[in-house]
Amino acid sequence: MKTALITGASSGIGEKFAWELARRSMNLVIVARRQEKLERLAEDLMRQYPITVEAIPQDLTDFQAGQVIDDFLSAREIDVDLLVNNAGFGDYGAFCDRNLSRQLETI
Ligand SMILES: NC(=O)c1ccc[n+]([C@@H]2O[C@H](COP(=O)([O-])OP(=O)(O)OC[C@H]3O[C@@H](n4cnc5c(N)ncnc54)[C@H](OP(=O)(O)O)[C@@H]3O)[C@@H](O)[C@H]2O)c1
Repeated sequence: MKTALITGASSGIGEKFAWELARRSMNLVIVARRQEKLERLAEDLMRQYPITVEAIPQDLTDFQAGQVIDDFLSAREIDVDLLVNNAGFGDYGAFCDRNLSRQLETI
């Protein structure tokens, strides 16, 4: 079975991706900050489909986030076949007027 890692899976488009990829029989690794929402989603998905779902509560703006996720995957010997790099938020206005730290969080 293939595995998809979805960032920003606790709500919105990312959560919809989780349901659709589960329907297509993919194991999932789901990432977002809200642990409770992630864990509830993982339980709901595994109740509905014969797949495994791992939840990683993680703020992706943390400098160490990539390493934390890589360590989590390595420890469980999970290979990721598909990345849905969806986590994010909207920020609007002229580039030169936007808050720098907000822009760095986006990146
Ligand atoms: N909806 C639109 O019309 C639209 C248009 C253009 C682009 N987009 C982009 O599409 C993506 C999904 O949009 P959406 O409408 O589904 O947004 P949403 O409902 O606000 O969901 C955003 C997801 O990203 C997660 N997230 C946000 N900041 C995070 C962080 N620092 N670390 C980890 N996870 C984080 C949130 O989870 P937590 O809060 O639990 O961390 C949530 O699961 C976003 O990147 C958005 O910018 C959306």
